[in-house]
Amino acid sequence: MTNRTPLIAGNWKMNLDHLQAIAFVQKLAWSLKDASHSYSDVEVALFPPFTDLRSVQTLVSADKLELAYGAQDVSAHDSGAYTGEISGQFLAKLDCAYVIIGHSERRTLHNETDEQIGAKVRAALKHGLVPVLCVGETAADLEEFGPSAVPVGQLKAALAGVPSDANIVVAYEPVWAIGSGQAATPEQAEQVCAALRAELAATLGPDTAAATRVLYGGSVKSGNIAGFMREPNVDGALVGGASLDLDEFSAIVRFKKHVGV
Ligand code: 13P
Repeated sequence: MTNRTPLIAGNWKMNLDHLQAIAFVQKLAWSLKDASHSYSDVEVALFPPFTDLRSVQTLVSADKLELAYGAQDVSAHDSGAYTGEISGQFLAKLDCAYVIIGHSERRTLHNETDEQIGAKVRAALKHGLVPVLCVGETAADLEEFGPSAVPVGQLKAALAGVPSDANIVVAYEPVWAIGSGQAATPEQAEQVCAALRAELAATLGPDTAAATRVLYGGSVKSGNIAGFMREPNVDGALVGGASLDLDEFSAIVRFKKHVGV
């Protein structure tokens, strides 16, 4: 990390309905308030399912919470005959700050291509949303191409047509580490995050590269977050399973206090 504000992001995936979301967000906010958490020191963003977003917005706004939130996907289109899709316009109206794009589960289970992901990134930016662009290699890719070729290629493809001053977040999530309990080592994460930053510099220029947060994701827990956050090119974490456990997630957010970084 340099002067980039660390971001701890919780991707709930398809978990927690809107009533559960309200209870969870309330408890998380209390837990972080009790711990005197400074959101300007470590930013916190939650990614609930679409159907929870209005409830989360109402709670965040009523209680003036400093938690940021966003959606887990966005349509490349603004409006029209796209059954089942959600426009960035709608997300912006719900005060979403962020949107996850190109998660490996969308790439694999929904066959999303680099081109579609690039179009979604441009759509998010158009509507004032910060894309959290996910990239990462499978175990087979790792064996065949080494650690950074696939994620760097995915980043390059998604950045086509993106303005050089774009506000984006990149999340390096090795597919083999997601939900497996076997996280990358901090050194592995650093190597790829540094390569991603170099690609950002080549594509968007050194200033944007220096300002862009690059997160690590894949089996992040309170017990391993410190190691990742010590690395100079890792600016936070995209947390899946552990983001659904209040105590775990709250401890990950408070990594500075609890693990002495
Ligand atoms: P886990 O933290 O459950 O490995 O999930 C990571 C992830 O996919 C976050 O987007």
